[in-house]
Amino acid sequence: MANPQQNKTYESIRMGVDYYPEHWDEAMWEEDVALMKRSGVAVVRVGEFAWSRMEPRDGEFNFDWLDRALDLFARYGIEVVIGTPTHTPPRWLTEKYPDILPILPNGGVYQPGVRGHRCFNSRELRRYGERIVSRLAERYAAHPAVIGWQTDNEFSLLDSQGKQVAEDFRDWVYQRYGTLEQLNRAWGTVVWSGEYSDWNEVNPPLGGSPYQNPSFLLDFTRFQWEMVADFQNGQIAAIRAHCPDHFITHNYHSYPQRLDLYKVGEALDFASFDYYPNTSPDKASTSPYSGALSLDVTRGVKRQNFWIMEQLSGSPGAWMPMWRMPQPGYIRAYVWQALSRGADTVVHFRWRSANIGAEQFWHGLIDHSNVPGRRLAEFAETSAEVQRLAPLLEGTTPEAQIAILMSHEQLEALRIQKQTDSFDYYENVKEYHRTLTKLGMGCDVIDWRQPLEGYRVVIAPHLYLLDDEAAERLSRFAADGGTLLLTARTGVKNLNNVCVMQPLPGLLADCAGVTVREYDPLGSDVVRLDAEDGEQYACSQWADILDPAADRRIEVMARYGGPVFFAGEAAVTRHEFGRGETYYLGTHPEEDYLRSLLLRIAQERDLPHTEGLPAGVQVSVRAGSSGAYLFVLNLSRDTRRFRLGGAYAQASSGEGLLGGRRYGSGEMEMKPYEVEIFRL
Ligand code: GAL
Repeated sequence: MANPQQNKTYESIRMGVDYYPEHWDEAMWEEDVALMKRSGVAVVRVGEFAWSRMEPRDGEFNFDWLDRALDLFARYGIEVVIGTPTHTPPRWLTEKYPDILPILPNGGVYQPGVRGHRCFNSRELRRYGERIVSRLAERYAAHPAVIGWQTDNEFSLLDSQGKQVAEDFRDWVYQRYGTLEQLNRAWGTVVWSGEYSDWNEVNPPLGGSPYQNPSFLLDFTRFQWEMVADFQNGQIAAIRAHCPDHFITHNYHSYPQRLDLYKVGEALDFASFDYYPNTSPDKASTSPYSGALSLDVTRGVKRQNFWIMEQLSGSPGAWMPMWRMPQPGYIRAYVWQALSRGADTVVHFRWRSANIGAEQFWHGLIDHSNVPGRRLAEFAETSAEVQRLAPLLEGTTPEAQIAILMSHEQLEALRIQKQTDSFDYYENVKEYHRTLTKLGMGCDVIDWRQPLEGYRVVIAPHLYLLDDEAAERLSRFAADGGTLLLTARTGVKNLNNVCVMQPLPGLLADCAGVTVREYDPLGSDVVRLDAEDGEQYACSQWADILDPAADRRIEVMARYGGPVFFAGEAAVTRHEFGRGETYYLGTHPEEDYLRSLLLRIAQERDLPHTEGLPAGVQVSVRAGSSGAYLFVLNLSRDTRRFRLGGAYAQASSGEGLLGGRRYGSGEMEMKPYEVEIFRL
């Protein structure tokens, strides 16, 4: 048997589609597969909702239809990823074992009929789930078409409250705290007579009230993260027992997302993402940026390249009224955007629009009519182009000197206790990322627990929960010569979600060189921010009134202005710390201010960047042993004229690898959704 570590088929750069053979008359299959082949489809994903077809009755398995579909793919030289079908337990199973259905926080039952109706703690779900997965793995271990597996589909938290959940939670809490005394202390249950006097009193947060003890609520979320990972581990063991050469991945959905992507990612070979960038013109100013972040987040899960397991192919609709149809060039441009940020294989959802079921209007590459049209043609052209460049791009990856730290614990704690009406953890992360993207600065987005070696700048938004390990690692990063950027709401609590009795930013006060004398939760109110260079900006959400430490080298970079009682007080500071520096942003400044700050850092640290990218234009670099490649993408509906700066300008004077154009001095003109790639 080959070593799975050496099985790198998943690093191939190519395109694919999601296909549901069980939705179509078998007489159509071969024509579909032949057309896929002609259109450049190299991979398909199948199976993730087909449990009732694979096991129509308890223990009665029927894989004949899947055999025939997979054989067809093998015959046409198309590789297959099988999705495990546990997202949709069949009716016979939920009838037999109603405890598979999640109990919602309001006590209601999550009924079958849509999907996702499965409680991860249900022993019967695990038993039956592992059985079907094991059967699949055994049957297809040696199938020539099958290369890997997707676990379940788009995991998310359900806050399921059933009896089994209660028992498992109680156990989890017991393992973590050991005695009721410690538990009561850690959660601060004395408030409102919430003390536990018996383990049986420990239950999930029934009723779902957001005003319950925040320490308890955060632990219930952590518990759920572990349960999803456990549930997945059962399937992974079943697959690996039969298919040691195959890869295993999971397809994450986009934010809002309460899952801890990193925890679920631990056991995977690589991460996958389902990418549906918004097609509406009024979202054009944000969607290419939030999409860029989602792609970087996905790359950060394993700190390696990833797949897109579902990519937008037509007008989305079903869960909401339909969005606009992707206009010519859109499908191609977003494939290149995904590749430019580290996707290797891009699989489109879906081959053809469903003519049955709830998702009839979530359009595929081919319309209901089954007449191949414009979108399939664009897919096929893109696929040919991707195949042509694959030999150059395979083995390359985006390399970054900047990291944004992402933490699902912070996200969840700040969701449980929203700090102000306009304060949103992920939206703020987006803003830092967007500002970097607009400056043409690539960055990694990684779990806040990851080592920081190799980075020169670390942006750590809202490390609200903090412990010694994180504080020391970040302080060391700055003291050893890094640039660290901290923000308001840092060091507020310990990991039990309990406020610390220390001046903020708590454990990072020494590293920041400032303490918070008092704060004002601004919410949506806007306050003036006077920068040291005389420019005026706006800030909102929050205002820390900062006291720079007298014995430190602190530069006050911006002060509050306007008619607030703290006008003139320090809002943003820079601390020379060891061989490095720590910026502390006590407020949430408007994007223009962030831009000026990050530009200054880029200039001082000589980081690659370019000013003057117009809205929707993005650049990124993939590098590896075959060289470094600069991607320039116009993800807007308009022609854009702009100038690339620095190293980017030089690269663009070479011949474009896609269109063959040259842009002498970095002066670019790109049509809507045009893309070009240059050697750097
Ligand atoms: C994804 C899901 C797919 C399909 C698609 C369109 O979230 O994984 O199965 O439903 O959205 O809604």
